[in-house]
Amino acid sequence: MKLHHLVETQQFDRDALRELFQLASSLEGKREESIKGKILASLFFEPSTRTRLSFESAMLRLGGEVITMESGDSSSQAKGETLEDSIKVINNYADIIVMRHAEVGSAARAAAVSKIPVINAGDGNMGQHPTQALLDLYTIQRELKREDGIHVAFVGNLKYYRSPRSLAYLLSKYKDIRVTFISAPELRMEDDVKGHLKENGVPFTETEDMTEGIKEADVVYQTRIAKEWIKNDAEYEKQRGRYIITRAVADAMKEGAIIIHPLPRVGEIEDAVDASPHAVYFRQVGYGLLVRMALLKTILSR
Ligand code: CP
Repeated sequence: MKLHHLVETQQFDRDALRELFQLASSLEGKREESIKGKILASLFFEPSTRTRLSFESAMLRLGGEVITMESGDSSSQAKGETLEDSIKVINNYADIIVMRHAEVGSAARAAAVSKIPVINAGDGNMGQHPTQALLDLYTIQRELKREDGIHVAFVGNLKYYRSPRSLAYLLSKYKDIRVTFISAPELRMEDDVKGHLKENGVPFTETEDMTEGIKEADVVYQTRIAKEWIKNDAEYEKQRGRYIITRAVADAMKEGAIIIHPLPRVGEIEDAVDASPHAVYFRQVGYGLLVRMALLKTILSR
């Protein structure tokens, strides 16, 4: 697989995904020196726990090194430097950039001026989060032990949430995939993603009824109502608490079905669900480290 910049999940085909996931599985529990001497610049202009620390951990586990900005506010963009100028400068210090930024399209803008690879760690409220989607798909295939014939129910905030958008583009690579979008009318999945599913023959339905929507699902993909992206407080309060996965909801899922979530959660999956056999979201975090190790190794060990 040839990979330089990683901006969106449309860059992958089925063979590339299989190759990446085989490498991810082979890296479980490993420490290597395969990218010794390489430096990752970790640029997070928005908050992150998992994406940032898992990329940094992945780099160290492969023998590489990390330079990092404390926050967007501590960079010279706070003085008015353009994103493009910052990226050109950081090209002198690192071999790869992992960047999260509040603007949709920022990863593509960075990639356009960067000689070193840029990995999109999330761009804007309606952009993409491709590495999250890759780890989501790895989780689904690893837990269900198959690639095809999977019904995924996305729940909650489907409008202002980049990970489900990215995953939808990956699901369309597989056979016999069905999708259910469960949300309030105000937070429905956008037409670009639905258009892509239609063009690729992936049947999907939209409903406000979570009980009905998850009954037949193999994967329940819960999301957070993102306060940082729903600026209207009244709207946020209206949506918060609308779709909660309680233990009773989890117990009603079909046998073998899984619950995933990009995390963080803020109440939309009750703690009591953690002990359910359907709960996979904390294992998903560990799979994320493997997928990010595989990505860094693929891009940097050429
Ligand atoms: N899932 C995810 O992107 O988490 P962070 O915001 O903590 O990186």
